Amino acid sequence: MRVKKAVIPAAGMGTRFLPATKAQPKEMLPIIDVPTIQHVVEEAVNAGITEILIITGRGKRAIEDHFDKSVELEILLEQKGKSNELADMQRISNLADIFYVRQKEALGLGHAVACARNFVGSEPFAVLLGDDIVHAEVPVIGQLIDIYKRKGGSVLGCQRVGFENIQKYGAVDAEDYSEPIVRVRSLVEKPKSAEAKSDLAVLGRYVISPEIFNVLAITTPGAGGEIQLTDALNLLARQQPVWAYSFAGRRYDVGDRIGFIEATIEYALRREDLAPQLKAYLKSLTFCE
Ligand code: G1P
Repeated sequence: MRVKKAVIPAAGMGTRFLPATKAQPKEMLPIIDVPTIQHVVEEAVNAGITEILIITGRGKRAIEDHFDKSVELEILLEQKGKSNELADMQRISNLADIFYVRQKEALGLGHAVACARNFVGSEPFAVLLGDDIVHAEVPVIGQLIDIYKRKGGSVLGCQRVGFENIQKYGAVDAEDYSEPIVRVRSLVEKPKSAEAKSDLAVLGRYVISPEIFNVLAITTPGAGGEIQLTDALNLLARQQPVWAYSFAGRRYDVGDRIGFIEATIEYALRREDLAPQLKAYLKSLTFCE
């Protein structure tokens, strides 16, 4: 079945990025001039997704405004003859059919995804987490959709993160790690480094079979007292194939201060309008050596 729906959980409070996220959604923090959530929505759209549900919460209205038409701004840009900017603003408000639902209580990622049940119905669907931004030739969620078409079941976008970092992630236990696609035996959310079966981490991209909703309905709170998507996927893996796929692409954890700075610098270095000046500036920082 074609994957045409995506769910983007965006209800988190952004406590890793205070005070910037005190009065604005963390998803609106820009990598240069593009809000992180726009990167994620564009990744989904570039992979053929046509319907997107953003799970929001209190204090997140700026996200809806961002993907809405801004009549005043469009009139102003037209009057000033800024046709490129005008075209870009119109493109953003026409990216996809975007729906919103509020997660009323912060009960965890699994609970947030469960809020998408009516939107998803009985189709396989994509999940993209906004803290993970990936620069890739083929959109990562598109890579996962291709694997899903070949293998069915559910597909988790993974990369190795080193055992010293695995306690921040959902960790994969598989029979063998030599191939880019491996069948998941079990999953553990945020294991201690010494207890992790591998350092293969789930990094914010999923194609999930709709049976997950029945599993989420019986998933009890896990790590951090939250209903974890990883725990539900662990139960699902006992019923049907769940694949861990090591995707190709450079991933940034933009919910983390250093990850955010790395993303900003590297995205700027990829832009023709900014790279020459930024390179000259970075070279001038000789005191860093
Ligand atoms: C979430 C998931 C975790 C995953 C991570 C990816 O954790 O629960 O399984 O590995 O995203 O970035 P969070 O970063 O929200 O604590």
